[in-house]
Amino acid sequence: MKLWKGRFSKAATSSADEFNASIEFDQRLYREDITGSIAHAKMLGKQGILTDEESRLIIKTLEEILADIEDGKVEFTIEAEDIHMNIESILTERIGDTGKKLHTARSRNDQVAVDVRLYMKKEIAAIDGSIRALMDALEKLARQHVDTVMPGYTHLQRAQPVTLAYHLLAYYQMFVRDKERFDDCLKRTDRLPLGSGALAGTTYDTDRDFLAEELGFASVLPNGMDAVADRDFAIEFINCCAITMMHLSRFCEELILWSSVEFSFVEIDDAYSTGSSIMPQKKNPDMAELIRGKTGRVYGDLMSLLTICKGLPLAYNKDLQEDKLPVFDAADTLKASMDIFTEMILTMRVKEEKMEHAAKYGYMNATDAADYLVSKGIPFRDCHEIIGKIVLYCIEKGIAIEELSMEEFKSFSDKFDEDIYDKISVRSCIEAKKSKGSTSFDSVREQLEALKK
Ligand code: ARG
Repeated sequence: MKLWKGRFSKAATSSADEFNASIEFDQRLYREDITGSIAHAKMLGKQGILTDEESRLIIKTLEEILADIEDGKVEFTIEAEDIHMNIESILTERIGDTGKKLHTARSRNDQVAVDVRLYMKKEIAAIDGSIRALMDALEKLARQHVDTVMPGYTHLQRAQPVTLAYHLLAYYQMFVRDKERFDDCLKRTDRLPLGSGALAGTTYDTDRDFLAEELGFASVLPNGMDAVADRDFAIEFINCCAITMMHLSRFCEELILWSSVEFSFVEIDDAYSTGSSIMPQKKNPDMAELIRGKTGRVYGDLMSLLTICKGLPLAYNKDLQEDKLPVFDAADTLKASMDIFTEMILTMRVKEEKMEHAAKYGYMNATDAADYLVSKGIPFRDCHEIIGKIVLYCIEKGIAIEELSMEEFKSFSDKFDEDIYDKISVRSCIEAKKSKGSTSFDSVREQLEALKK
């Protein structure tokens, strides 16, 4: 039986019921819905809108319903449309008329808004835990690889040597900001919509501050129409998920490249790889590829909710029922991706010798060779040209710059001396970086030290 049947002379067709219903996906909100209803019943009792006895009976029964749902003893129905009306129907089945009083001074519009916010607060806390675990893993790996030398790239061309720790700490910083973004999103999520009624407030003497306190919200949304109509906090949340996925995806792209024979910098553990059904030699980085692919899904979630909201006149419109799917999907996808990613990087094998070998070839010390000539008094632009010629000469001979004889060096500039060999070794190139936040061994140790704070 419909909770709103009074005004209707005809039942909806079963296809309309099915189309309209959200219970299939919003049943995930059962805990938040019951938590919100318990707070609401408590407030109604405290304010004398319900008797103490009625309030207590409702609360006790809601607690029983919660336990029954968790024990798998409750069946939801499409006729009751969504999680809110399913629970209210069950309550009324169990305690009759008193159950029908729960919805006094409330609308499903403020009810669903509070449910989604409660749900997101829980998800943000869980995501926070996953980001922390990922950051800890990166820190652990970085500490192990302070001394591991590898090529740094621009345009995916070998550019300048760096350390693996430096490269990992670059990602660490991205995840620091992702975490900050979620913390910030939490501030705007942590505001109470409940008590706004359908859109205009209620005629009852309610206590929204009490509700905020009961439900653990930092404040009460000051305008009821805004409270029931907007989902900007959910858009912001998916945006935070999308940016974090983007960072994960870039990292995955690198792991996919690094685990190819062409790079051979890492080997992803068998437990996080798959084989091919036809090619026996294959070991594929599927987890990394899937994270990269799922990033596209989360971008879709963001676009989806932005688009759902863009043309809605105030206040509530049923379009908003569609908000939950992208929110759930973005949160689920991000958590699963982060968790598998963390396991994957903690178990992969780093091939230090291959990285170092790659760092030695590719003329990545050319900038340092130019800096050497600058230190001998030649203007940088001229040094750039001299070294450019040296590189061309070396490419033709198929050798590295440091493999030139002293005589050969001198033929390009008489400013070259024996100390050039030491100055352009891969480790010297790294060590010589002086700027704050550089790849030098000392700077990376400092960066690691700073993480403790
Ligand atoms: N299932 C609805 C949703 O998720 C609940 C709110 C319905 N409100 C209404 N006025 N029909 O948005």
